[in-house]
Amino acid sequence: MKAQLIAIDGPVAVGKSSVGLRLAKRLGYIFFDTGMIYRAFTWKVLKSGISPEDEQKLCHLATTTEFDFIPSKQGALSFFVDGEDVSSRLLSAEIEGLVALIAKIAGVRQAMVSEQRKLAQRGKVVMAGRDIGTVVLPWAELKIFLTASTEERARRRHKELLRRGQNSSLEIVLADLKRRDEMDINRTVSPLKPAEDSIIINTENLSLEQVVDKIYSLAINL
Ligand code: C5P
Repeated sequence: MKAQLIAIDGPVAVGKSSVGLRLAKRLGYIFFDTGMIYRAFTWKVLKSGISPEDEQKLCHLATTTEFDFIPSKQGALSFFVDGEDVSSRLLSAEIEGLVALIAKIAGVRQAMVSEQRKLAQRGKVVMAGRDIGTVVLPWAELKIFLTASTEERARRRHKELLRRGQNSSLEIVLADLKRRDEMDINRTVSPLKPAEDSIIINTENLSLEQVVDKIYSLAINL
């Protein structure tokens, strides 16, 4: 039997998106990187001018914002906010600096989780995030939790930024990664942690393809 819903969780820059996208392509599934919906909402918050401290207004904004996810030719999803395609704007430093703070708010998470579950109803989805196995899709047939040391993850993210032609300093990347990890792990609502029935894969000494191969064989041999 083949897993229809696959959850991949793990900390910042552990490779969830690279692994998830390749895995989804191989299986012919949709890949949903849930970090992008928190980023898309943060984009809307910045545009609205609402203070990131004003939880009440942010919760209201989350429930009145319209999200849409449309599969693109590359196999990933394009993210639409109130009808506008914001996909190319979600990796900015401004959003990166604010997103973990916004993602701590319970009412915001509730609205985002409901969007994520709506998409999962289509089936055949690989969903990556922090709380997919524990909160969003605890019924997923396969739950993976990826790990790697903070230094290794910072090196990977730094390399990726340079490859994309962006300015990057390893020290700044490492500091930002530690800051976001700290917020994700210690928040009271849906903290980052492996589900009890998840399979933990330490990716430290594995290539991307080796990680994908491992999860693929687990997914098709349920
Ligand atoms: O994965 P990515 O770095 O794009 O996620 C951006 C932020 O969104 C994370 O730092 C985290 O705070 C939040 N997030 C979350 N739950 C998820 C996915 C992302 O809280 N399922």
